[in-house]
Amino acid sequence: MNYKFPADFWWGSAASGAQTEGIATGDGKGESIWDRWYSNDPSVFFNEVGPDQASRVYEMYKEDVKLMKEIGHNSYRTSIQWSRLIPEGRGKVNPDAVAFYNSYIDELIENDIEPFICLYHFDMPMAMQEIGGWESKEVVEAYLEFAKTCFELFGDRVKKWFTHNEPIVPVEGGYLYQFHYPLVVDMKRAVQVAYHETLASVKTIKAYHEAGYDGEIGIILNLTPSYPRNEEDPEDVKAAQLADGFFNRSFLEPAINGVFPADIVELITELDLLPDYTEEELDLIKANTIDLLGINYYQPRRIKKKESKSEYDSVMPDDYFDNYVWPERKMNPYRGWEIYEKGIYDCLINIRDNYGNIPCFISENGMGVEGEEKYINEEGRIDDDYRIEFVSDHLKYVHQAIQEGCNVKGYHMWTCMDNWSWTNAYKNRYGFIAVDLEDNRKRTIKKSGYWYKEVVANNGFDD
Ligand code: BG6
Repeated sequence: MNYKFPADFWWGSAASGAQTEGIATGDGKGESIWDRWYSNDPSVFFNEVGPDQASRVYEMYKEDVKLMKEIGHNSYRTSIQWSRLIPEGRGKVNPDAVAFYNSYIDELIENDIEPFICLYHFDMPMAMQEIGGWESKEVVEAYLEFAKTCFELFGDRVKKWFTHNEPIVPVEGGYLYQFHYPLVVDMKRAVQVAYHETLASVKTIKAYHEAGYDGEIGIILNLTPSYPRNEEDPEDVKAAQLADGFFNRSFLEPAINGVFPADIVELITELDLLPDYTEEELDLIKANTIDLLGINYYQPRRIKKKESKSEYDSVMPDDYFDNYVWPERKMNPYRGWEIYEKGIYDCLINIRDNYGNIPCFISENGMGVEGEEKYINEEGRIDDDYRIEFVSDHLKYVHQAIQEGCNVKGYHMWTCMDNWSWTNAYKNRYGFIAVDLEDNRKRTIKKSGYWYKEVVANNGFDD
């Protein structure tokens, strides 16, 4: 069968500033929560490798853009590090950062690669965390000023902006399950953080639209379709709906429909967990919705009714459902995540049917592999056939969704070149391009990179 994609499909990959740039506090960059956490406790990070050890895009971006072009990219997402551009989070702008991002953006455009820019990818400036991070309305205002500065500096050339990458992750990581700074476990504070992320997003969307830029602004959400263990069991079905509410609809609904999901509002009201909010803010949320949705899809959630008590001494979302490990399901043996290709299709159909078929694209999807060095062939190239299979299997479902009327504009794999990833550092490799940590971050295109080049050249593939 031939899988042909629409003309002008966005082919590319995604990354983030903090995960790629390197030299963590060099050239005027301020400290982020990751820099602080690493200097406080390097043992948390895989092999004790910190954000300063990211893949050195700050120095190597010209070479990297050539490689992106070599493997067919017509678009690429990264993020502007808030703490690089405005080292203290607000106030003085770092001229070296302006020069770097200008040159990087120009280099992409000169090579016919459209830059997609995200404004927040988990990287709170430490000075902002010290005044409360996303719990604080002052930080919401500081973020808005940072976003406006980005629009003023780069908005003449960047036409696709995103306010957040996976806003649920700082909520889960920082305020529920302790895998991001500030390592808090407190559902009430988590709800406030989630609310402020949405508030920051809508204020930014309003500012972008009001300034009349020629471009689009959206948000990137990691959608994890929630499937009940047993469709016939109403309690499993209810549990799966609640999990969907917490992890997907809590950002999807306000981003697209301008309201928070009624079932989640009802539950957090009963639990006395409502955030501080004003009617005026709710009106802003209602009036300022996104132009474009980025969907990150890696794996689904398999949900069953709650059977065991949460291990935490606090109200938690998972007091209401259990994530169910389904042993007979297909797993990524290198990362322990389920591979369920149809989930990407289900996400897209959901947007078509329940969210006005808003323009969207796959903004992340990919396969993390630990120990990938063992697949290096005699010529020094990684033969990652498993990744080719993973991406093509998902693309088939994206193709099917487009055939069925979904408004899908593109596909970005995570990621272009192997990058540093939060506490996992370089444990799981995801790139089309390998980065040799032992040899000056030398880049080598993997088999999947050459495969992708062909896919883009043909605007699809045969099977
Ligand atoms: C995505 C994030 O959810 O997962 C990325 O947006 C992250 O920032 C990626 O790198 C992979 O995560 P991990 O833990 O497998 O390296």
